[in-house]
Amino acid sequence: MVRGLSGLRVMITGAAGGIGSAIVDRLHDEGAIVMGVDVVSPADTRLAYAGACDVTDEASVTAAFDAAVARTGGIDALVPAAGIQISKDTHDLTAEEFRTVIEVSALGTFLTTKYVIPAMLAAHSGRIVTFGSTAAVGSAPRLAAYAAAKGAVLQYSRSIAVEYAARGIRVNCICPGGTMTPMMKQIEAQRVGVDHFKERHPIGRYAEPAEIAGTVAFLLSDDASFMVGAAVMVDGGYSIG
Ligand SMILES: NC(=O)c1ccc[n+]([C@@H]2O[C@H](COP(=O)([O-])OP(=O)(O)OC[C@H]3O[C@@H](n4cnc5c(N)ncnc54)[C@H](O)[C@@H]3O)[C@@H](O)[C@H]2O)c1
Repeated sequence: MVRGLSGLRVMITGAAGGIGSAIVDRLHDEGAIVMGVDVVSPADTRLAYAGACDVTDEASVTAAFDAAVARTGGIDALVPAAGIQISKDTHDLTAEEFRTVIEVSALGTFLTTKYVIPAMLAAHSGRIVTFGSTAAVGSAPRLAAYAAAKGAVLQYSRSIAVEYAARGIRVNCICPGGTMTPMMKQIEAQRVGVDHFKERHPIGRYAEPAEIAGTVAFLLSDDASFMVGAAVMVDGGYSIG
């Protein structure tokens, strides 16, 4: 058993975002070799590789991930954290809005995992932590496209977790509750009426991004060696409250 993440080569998508950049911080502190991509290349100089990548575009994923592998020699672990949300009445969503929300989370998770799995199979070793949400397991009114996207990510994650578990790849899906990031600020700005979302977290507050990053670090580590296909609720009690 190896403790910590020293030397682990980890690729993070959405690495410039609120949670993504907290994951960069945490994994860097733990001695991992951290690679990050986002729509606009992350500015963090600690990244062993930083690149621009649209996770919904297979050619873009291949180009960025090829460049990352050329820089670091390989990807031992993947955290596909890129995601977007649109909050509005469902009958007002356009087909394009619905498609885009689904594509960033679900297609993006598929394309990035599809890239890393062959080398992980060859190494008989790999760790993947996908990004669900409380919306993957519960209802999310006015966030229906987002809930559909996150439900898809969770079921996709469970499927590949079982498919590859005996071949050395460990996949789990983290499902955060409300977390104070640019996405959450956007959700709050798009809400109508009184906002009870925060109060529905029994802990009485939103998460800090570092609290989500800590669980990602745990799931990537050998301490989570028997965790396969779990929906890991990191939600201040939201899903059971
Ligand atoms: N903040 C929350 O309350 C919360 C709760 C549960 C789950 N999540 C999930 O956590 C993850 C991170 O969210 P966050 O709150 O840090 O949001 P954020 O908006 O701060 O960061 C998301 C990042 O994804 C990037 N991104 C968007 N589309 C992309 C694309 N096509 N290709 C590459 N990158 C793209 C954005 O540029 C952004 O930097 C998301 O998957 C989100 O759905 C967030």
